[in-house]
Amino acid sequence: MSETDNTPRPLRILLLAAEVVPFVKTGGLADVAGSLPPAIRALGHDIRVAMPRYGRIDPRRFNLKLLPKTFVVPLDNRMEPGQLREGRLAYDVPIYFVENARYFDREGIYMYPDDAERFIFFCRGALEGVRQLGWQPDVVHCHDWQTALVPNWLKTIYARDPFFCQTASVYTIHSLAFRGIFGRRVLEIAGIAEYEFTAGPDGTRDGQVVDFMARGITYADVINTVSPTYAREILTPEFGENLDGLLRQRQDRLFGILNGLDAEDYNPATDPYIARRYTAETLEQRAENKAALQRYAGLEVAPETPLLGAISRLTDDKGFDLIQAMLEPMLKHLDVQFVLMGTGEERYHRFFLEIAQRYPGRMAVFLTFNTPLARRIYAGTDIFLMPSRFEPCGLGQMIAMRYGSVPLVRAVGGLVDTVQDYDPSAQTGTGFLFRAYDALAFYTAVVRAVETYRYTDVWRKLQQRGMQQDFSWQASARAYVELYRLACSLRAQMAQGISRTS
Ligand code: GLC
Repeated sequence: MSETDNTPRPLRILLLAAEVVPFVKTGGLADVAGSLPPAIRALGHDIRVAMPRYGRIDPRRFNLKLLPKTFVVPLDNRMEPGQLREGRLAYDVPIYFVENARYFDREGIYMYPDDAERFIFFCRGALEGVRQLGWQPDVVHCHDWQTALVPNWLKTIYARDPFFCQTASVYTIHSLAFRGIFGRRVLEIAGIAEYEFTAGPDGTRDGQVVDFMARGITYADVINTVSPTYAREILTPEFGENLDGLLRQRQDRLFGILNGLDAEDYNPATDPYIARRYTAETLEQRAENKAALQRYAGLEVAPETPLLGAISRLTDDKGFDLIQAMLEPMLKHLDVQFVLMGTGEERYHRFFLEIAQRYPGRMAVFLTFNTPLARRIYAGTDIFLMPSRFEPCGLGQMIAMRYGSVPLVRAVGGLVDTVQDYDPSAQTGTGFLFRAYDALAFYTAVVRAVETYRYTDVWRKLQQRGMQQDFSWQASARAYVELYRLACSLRAQMAQGISRTS
């Protein structure tokens, strides 16, 4: 490259996540970690991903190759051995699996008493592993609490390490609800017990608990969340989960970038799981999917009856207390059907099973998650419910729109940033929004949607506007590259500051 060429050079990015599609998924984080890297690579950057090699990931099935060299990770007072296995994501993005039988050869993914130690090992193993490959990242992009100590390490134990002293960090918050709170002992395991850290979980000087999330926020060069609205909301006590004070302190480093949707994977024109494929132009064919879903779910095959759907974790966070309060009034007073898929709190399992029994042909519940049925619900329902208490980004509403199921959502977080309220006088909008977290506000929105559904032409245009939204990863990937560059320059400025004063 010549001296006068001022095209910025491609970046080397190491992305760390505890779950990545298609290998392991428990939540939306896995979708992001699987889809963002190919989009970044398409922009010409050398991005590589690392995750633990959990026992349930079969190396043969995914053709994962064990790399010859082993490495050791300092952990507590001992050295724990590790090794990398290499696979590929879409677009040929390398993904490294950190191997260690003791920590990862187990049935599940999370909820073990030594989770802190397991993820400390994973993160440090990923850093030591790429060091051994001689691949020096410009940026480490961390996601959620499992990886939140990396920014802390880069500012302490790795600050003078010749290999990592220039590495910047970006920390992405997918949800403040999952924090990683442990006892002080984990600092010894992580090798940072002697470094001062004063922010407790509520930003106070507690010092007795270690909050991984708070550390990521404190030490990362740049922080972001998964929608612009959630990035603003978490600065307030209502959404800040006691970290709003700390987040306000770091507000100049905090950004919001909306997640994308994998438009090839989620495409009603090619979806292999649905009864009849369709596009925005051939929406009349969609009716076959509704009939097929009604049959499969044991509902009356009634083309004119609005079919509501939800696919979600069954928790209060996702607004299931509102659905619970209003489901019977809806089934009694409105001519609607409802199909639900998901698992969650036991009391909701019982409640929905009981209602399904009492309203045969009108309500169906599947206490499970499986992709084929999920696709049939997106393709066959008329209205898709997401009355979340908070929603950092949300994926369901975007998939629903792409499949012509009109979202009915609460006006929070990423839901506000992706769904526009239907305006009957202007004939604009892509869904139905309600503001107050309140059963009546929710019910009113349902009535509004069901009423609008009766006007076939209006409804069809509403569906088409949703189907034509562009939620592709491209724009988000560009925004992330800008964030990476910002992190690098802030890191470099800080390094200059250090060398001037020392
Ligand atoms: C979390 C959030 C969800 C978001 C996802 C991916 O699961 O709850 O809103 O879409 O992360 O960022």
